[in-house]
Amino acid sequence: MCECCNSHKRPVNEIIAVTGKGGTGKTTFVAVMAKILASKGFKVLAVDADPPISLTYALGATPLKTIAQIRAKMIEDPNEKKRIKDLPIEDVIADEAVIDLDQLSLLIMGKSEGPGCFCSINELLKYGISKLSKNFDFTLIDCEAGIEQINRQVIDSINRMIMISDTSAKGLRTALHLNNLGNSYGVQGNYKKGLVINRAGKKEIPILEEKVKEMNIDIIGFIPEDHKITEHDLFDRSIFELPKNAPSFVAIHGILERQGILI
Ligand SMILES: Nc1ncnc2c1ncn2[C@@H]1O[C@H](COP(=O)(O)OP(=O)(O)OP(=O)(O)O)[C@@H](O)[C@H]1O
Ligand SMILES: [Mg+2]
Repeated sequence: MCECCNSHKRPVNEIIAVTGKGGTGKTTFVAVMAKILASKGFKVLAVDADPPISLTYALGATPLKTIAQIRAKMIEDPNEKKRIKDLPIEDVIADEAVIDLDQLSLLIMGKSEGPGCFCSINELLKYGISKLSKNFDFTLIDCEAGIEQINRQVIDSINRMIMISDTSAKGLRTALHLNNLGNSYGVQGNYKKGLVINRAGKKEIPILEEKVKEMNIDIIGFIPEDHKITEHDLFDRSIFELPKNAPSFVAIHGILERQGILI
């Protein structure tokens, strides 16, 4: 970090996908990570790649436009069809789908409302990410729960995959699947991978470490149960407003430091 202008010096261009079983804390992790990186002066693109839209709200934003809506307009509006006929599709997405927030930018996939294939929204998302990520230090993708987006290579060209699990065997099994899928198709040659276990109690940590050792996955950190998050949930406050001393915030900050994401 530069002492005079408070910005970072290191040139970065990293795409990080956050994956895992449903409800394990992916969106929370991405929102906190986005806040930390943006506050350090990094240029951050947050990608809400979960069809029901959740990262957007966790960031305290409104889904003003989504890739799904832009796609629907391309299909249904003859003028729009004509306008974009000769434009590269990645330029259309990059120019029109991004929402600029105070501290970062946001790209929302959304959900297909009408007829048509859901996969093509995922395709458009892929084009959007590959074009836009060049302009950002960090592109942080809050993936759909489960293994599909990684399995179908909807999210490709990542530099790092952070798998989030809760303490359940089911959560760890999904992480193992994700880890193995990642291994088998090798996006961009090698990308870094690590597992974060969320809502882990002190007593559970040694048991989890033992279990995960057998799975051959690297645990990069634990996040404790955080009553501050529960409070934010209760009062419908965005995770982006979580205080810096919240236990989850401190844990995620530590993970980013240890992984060399924050220097
Ligand atoms: N460390 C934590 N302590 C307390 N509550 C947490 C913690 N992490 C996440 N939560 C809460 O658990 C719920 C699920 O978290 P989140 O939405 O981030 O999971 P997700 O993996 O994105 O879920 P989905 O698969 O539905 O997208 C949310 O209500 C969130 O506020
Ligand atoms: Mg989510």
